[in-house]
Amino acid sequence: MANQGVNDPINTGRRRFLTATTAVVGAVGAGFAAVPFIKSWNPSARAKLAGAPVTADISALEEGQRLVFEWRGQPIWIVKRSKAILDALPTLDSHLRDPLSTNLDQQPSYIKGEFRSIKKDISVLVGLCTHLGCSPEMKAEIRPEPFDPEWKGGYFCPCHKSRFDMSGRVFQGVPAPINLLVPPHHYENDTTIIIGVDPKGAA
Ligand code: FES
Repeated sequence: MANQGVNDPINTGRRRFLTATTAVVGAVGAGFAAVPFIKSWNPSARAKLAGAPVTADISALEEGQRLVFEWRGQPIWIVKRSKAILDALPTLDSHLRDPLSTNLDQQPSYIKGEFRSIKKDISVLVGLCTHLGCSPEMKAEIRPEPFDPEWKGGYFCPCHKSRFDMSGRVFQGVPAPINLLVPPHHYENDTTIIIGVDPKGAA
């Protein structure tokens, strides 16, 4: 399929966007507490539907947790990654399709490399599989999984078994063609992310 650009609204006809699935934070294990889906309605529902930015308050986000916001009808995942997860990411490069995120259709130009984030520990992703748009499950613990005995944490899409690491980088040999998308975003302050607007001066 053609690559989905970071600013393209989701085509719900082609993609199986499972709204119900995104209403609950995905599978989490010990040390990974569930956080409710946050429906942020600022500045207004109508404006948001038109693509207005969404303000994400991450002041309560703790290591291992994920917050889910909605922007342009898409679930936006914000995850705080542990040092163990960050240390594991570079070890996965040889198993990935685009380890250094060279495909510029899948993230803004200021999102680079293995961590794919502005702040190393905070990952911001569009939570839709780049194959056909299912909502992948978060499998954030470093432990053997039935689908990968050397699993280092990441996202598993149950629809056709695509796998992504904790930066949203896609593994080789799975149906998803590209990494999970990263939406435009910037930090208004240490605990506030504006989803939908690039940092000042970003190309
Ligand atoms: S939609 Fe995720 S693997 Fe097919």
